[in-house]
Amino acid sequence: MNDWWRRMSLSRRSLLGAGGMALVGGAVTAARSQRRGATVEHAPVKNRPAGTAAQHHRGHGGMLTVGQVDDARNGFDPTHMLTDWDQGRVTMLPNGHRLREFNIVAENKEVEIAPGLVFPAWTFNGRVPGPTLRVTEGDRVRIHFANAGSHPHTMHFHGIHSARMDGVPGAGEAAPGETFVYEFDAFPFGCHLYHCHSVPLKRHIHKGLYGAFIIDPDPARHPEQRDVVVSRLLGTPENARWQEYVMVMNGFDTNFDEENEVYAVNTIAHAYAHKPIQIDRQRPVRIYLVNVLEFDPVNSFHLHANFFDYYDTGTALTPTLKTVDTIMQCQAQRGILEFTYAEHETGMYMFHAHQSEFVELGWMGFFDVRDPVA
Ligand code: CU
Ligand code: CU
Repeated sequence: MNDWWRRMSLSRRSLLGAGGMALVGGAVTAARSQRRGATVEHAPVKNRPAGTAAQHHRGHGGMLTVGQVDDARNGFDPTHMLTDWDQGRVTMLPNGHRLREFNIVAENKEVEIAPGLVFPAWTFNGRVPGPTLRVTEGDRVRIHFANAGSHPHTMHFHGIHSARMDGVPGAGEAAPGETFVYEFDAFPFGCHLYHCHSVPLKRHIHKGLYGAFIIDPDPARHPEQRDVVVSRLLGTPENARWQEYVMVMNGFDTNFDEENEVYAVNTIAHAYAHKPIQIDRQRPVRIYLVNVLEFDPVNSFHLHANFFDYYDTGTALTPTLKTVDTIMQCQAQRGILEFTYAEHETGMYMFHAHQSEFVELGWMGFFDVRDPVA
């Protein structure tokens, strides 16, 4: 080990600052046991990656992960994940009802959550979070679920459905090698989630078995608020004006002591700090925000230099909060944020949890607000 590493007091922050160094068992355990009152020094600047976000952040102490996560090895890319809605296979039932079918497989998979830090995850379709399922209010949803993992798993949807379809032990749990078909009509519209509900629940959730479940409102059911509804309905010209992103706030307990060592949106620590989300200044932004963080009682989202309207759970067409810059969510709480940078200068605008510790451990990113390309 070189000198700067020896000089550092061990803490979760300093471990992340060490970037590519292996964060394994004993070292992290030692770090956690000393986390309170530990002092922090940082990796030398020469070890940090070049790039605008890293340069921008250097003035604040440069508390970013160091190095690169291998997205190809993970099999998913956090930038792509912001917008890769899965609308399922669409057919019509004899009664004229629209059917959307999805195939979901639970499987064990190692996921690199920060440079050099590999987490033994349990995944839906090989990714954490699982696919973002996006349907329209009233659609018949049919999920063909197969458990290729090593423990019993379920898919429990937040939504309206029968007890038989609840995805809990005794109702829709699949043992390893088994399958189950969940079926229900998509209600109510909003920003929801699904997750495994096998026991012990906290283990099955924090290992990575969760994803966003978005139900767009149906214009035919809300004629009096058609403008708002069509702006949220994927596939309409009104919706295409918006820049929509899904952000699942999560964390990882890498040494299984029931505290998180890494925090993120969409799994990869500081992904959107290293690679900011490009925003066209002229177009409005909508974030589908879901909190699945285990072990910490609350999470939050804070937007810099701007304010947003917030729709708690997304189940209403008028905002529940207007003109706020920070909201908090407990586990499974979620909502929709709407904002614009149309009146702002172009530049890098930060967003992050307002728990400072979460920021330093991975939950921080930037919107790179630009003028539209002519
Ligand atoms: Cu499970
Ligand atoms: Cu839940």
